[in-house]
Amino acid sequence: MEHLIDIQGLKYRYQTAQQETLAISEFRVEKGESIFLYGPSGSGKTTLLEILAGILKPQKGVVKILGQDLSAKSETERDQFRGEHLGYIFQNFNLIPYLSVRENIELPIRLSARRRSRIDFGKLENIISDICDRLGILSVLDRRVTELSIGQQQRVAVARALVGQPDLILADEPTSSLDMDHREKFLNLLFDLCKQYGASLLFVSHDRSIQHMFSRTVFLSDINKITP
Ligand SMILES: Nc1ncnc2c1ncn2[C@@H]1O[C@H](COP(=O)(O)OP(=O)(O)OP(=O)(O)O)[C@@H](O)[C@H]1O
Ligand SMILES: [Mg+2]
Repeated sequence: MEHLIDIQGLKYRYQTAQQETLAISEFRVEKGESIFLYGPSGSGKTTLLEILAGILKPQKGVVKILGQDLSAKSETERDQFRGEHLGYIFQNFNLIPYLSVRENIELPIRLSARRRSRIDFGKLENIISDICDRLGILSVLDRRVTELSIGQQQRVAVARALVGQPDLILADEPTSSLDMDHREKFLNLLFDLCKQYGASLLFVSHDRSIQHMFSRTVFLSDINKITP
């Protein structure tokens, strides 16, 4: 059976670091799961997401997504794979400041022909309107992202990750700036959108108050066995 994520024998060390940041002998995620990956600050959550996104390349191990071995791909191939299959909500959102909200959301579609081919391009306008309406950012579509509140920027980042129906959303603590009420609302919306667009979710956070909302919780320290 093909797993959504299948990690085996992974080791990652930053070039300047004395020791490994990640040593994961095995970690699997199946399609349709919503995973809460918990770990304290500095434990390697962002590092793991960047490896799964193919931004960082591990020194050892096999990292398969949808049966495809990222570790066997070149940087260009990994970029293409990310563009086609993944939606990444970055810890600091990574929105492009000189572009409008709409342009930011369209970016993954414009950059990846394969992602474009997953949707009916003539309907892009409708797809964006639908997602943004649900996220409550329809009225700011033509504003510069620098003119938005943090909460609004966060929702733009979600819209950008979802457009073009990726198979997997990697979310890096996108709720850290929200209060509890808004956090639960935001998460319910994210779950609904993932369901509607057929995406699985890997969500990392150091905030355990939201873990009950996910289908499975994984402690990074349980899968990451670095020996100091
Ligand atoms: N570019 C880098 N070069 C060297 N070390 C790094 C680099 N980026 C991160 N690290 C180190 O790797 C470890 C894991 O960092 P990472 O950003 O993955 O943690 P995190 O769990 O995402 O933390 P947070 O919850 O604060 O976002 C930390 O000790 C950090 O100092
Ligand atoms: Mg982080």
